[in-house]
Amino acid sequence: MTVLSIIVAPDPRLKVNADPVDKVDGEIRQLMDDMLETMHSANGIGLAAPQVGVAKRILVMDVARPDEDPQPIRMANPEVVWESEEEVLAEEGCLSLPDQYAEVVRPQKVRVRYLDHENEIRELEADGLLAKCVQHEMDHLDGVLFVDHLSSLKRKIILRKLSKTKRMAAVGA
Ligand code: NI
Repeated sequence: MTVLSIIVAPDPRLKVNADPVDKVDGEIRQLMDDMLETMHSANGIGLAAPQVGVAKRILVMDVARPDEDPQPIRMANPEVVWESEEEVLAEEGCLSLPDQYAEVVRPQKVRVRYLDHENEIRELEADGLLAKCVQHEMDHLDGVLFVDHLSSLKRKIILRKLSKTKRMAAVGA
């Protein structure tokens, strides 16, 4: 498995509407495994393909705690087929927005239909952290970042900080 490099916002590759996958074949499976490796090495709980520069509707997640066995989930073409009316406000971060956190409102529970790593149709009923994570990752497939759920002022402050950090890294400051 290969650790891929994660794109940091602001970047136009994070704003694309990703394409559906025709079939989960060996190549897509390999990408899913590389994404899991990349996510784990960055201590993340979710990663979407556009974050590694691949404009495809693929995401991976693992919300297991460090003391639990890994619970990797690989999804292609995920779709929300049901969401609860109850919403929750919870803090989110993102591997593409390092060190930035903000509270986002989302449905508390969702049911998602997707293709797994063997090209089988499956459904996942998610609640709590997993529900928040899958909705956040699915947003990435539509070019939406968690900051896009905030006020434009809050979004600008966060993106400006990230731009500044990138510029400083580029000049080696
Ligand atoms: Ni993210």
